[in-house]
Amino acid sequence: MSSVQEFLQGITKSWIHQSWSVRLLRLWLGVTFTYAGIDKALDGGFLNPDATTYIGKQLAGFAQQSPISPLLNKMIEHATLVGAGTMVGEIAIGLATLFGVLPFLAAVAGAGLSATLWLSSTFHTTPYFLAPDTAYLIMWLVFALAILPRKRTISRVLNVDRRGAIGIGVVGVLSIAFAGLGNIFAKPGKIASGAAKVVTKQGGSAPANAIATISDLNVGTALQIKLASGDPGILIRTATDAVCAFSAVCTHQGCTVDYDQVSKELICPCHGARFDPLQNGKAIAGPTRVALTEVPVQISGEYIVSA
Ligand code: FES
Repeated sequence: MSSVQEFLQGITKSWIHQSWSVRLLRLWLGVTFTYAGIDKALDGGFLNPDATTYIGKQLAGFAQQSPISPLLNKMIEHATLVGAGTMVGEIAIGLATLFGVLPFLAAVAGAGLSATLWLSSTFHTTPYFLAPDTAYLIMWLVFALAILPRKRTISRVLNVDRRGAIGIGVVGVLSIAFAGLGNIFAKPGKIASGAAKVVTKQGGSAPANAIATISDLNVGTALQIKLASGDPGILIRTATDAVCAFSAVCTHQGCTVDYDQVSKELICPCHGARFDPLQNGKAIAGPTRVALTEVPVQISGEYIVSA
């Protein structure tokens, strides 16, 4: 029997010999982690130090309030390497789980990664059940216990036989290939720019940098604007004589935030990040600790202008 046949037969057997509950858990965890890694590879900003979604910026944001901030600060020094490792690691954990290659080790690695993500990015999410990392941590632990062989010898637990060795090679090559292909087809990342300019559209006697007239915007309301980069922005009148504006691109994964007039916060509909416009767009809840990019604006006579 060829090595490929032996490997494929091993995958089939590994699924046949499991209960439906374990198969379901394995399928969900394997597909989700593979997808999570590929999703990072498809984000052109993830490894780009100038982009808003750059891993280094995410780590810097997490480090501000995380219980493992000393570790995160060390990781920031090698952020691009950490990002690439996380991307390939997630794909490898997902594929190893689906193929049944060192499944116990993959489950322990999945649990470790979920615990790290929880301690860094979603530790302050309340209520806790809104953060998925804790759920994944528990799922990986349950899966690891479910596949632990009754006779626990190192070789049985780690599956270090010929098929295991072939599987490690296949998973390694495919993980790097998927990450590389994702990077080739990645959408360009959103570039962070503190000097983002506003596209102005006032006419007549309005100054060239006018964004809106004061009468367009009642106190406590917001206006969607367009930045020169093409990104959506949001202009908020916080008091009779005070306005502020931000890029509306969420610093977690780039969804568009909106202003909530009741809580007076900017809220991301995707994963619930919240930003405080009165604290320069500071992230106050959710999976990001990176503030929104502030756009300088001011009131000038009857106009709101870009400063
Ligand atoms: S994109 Fe995830 S919270 Fe905004």
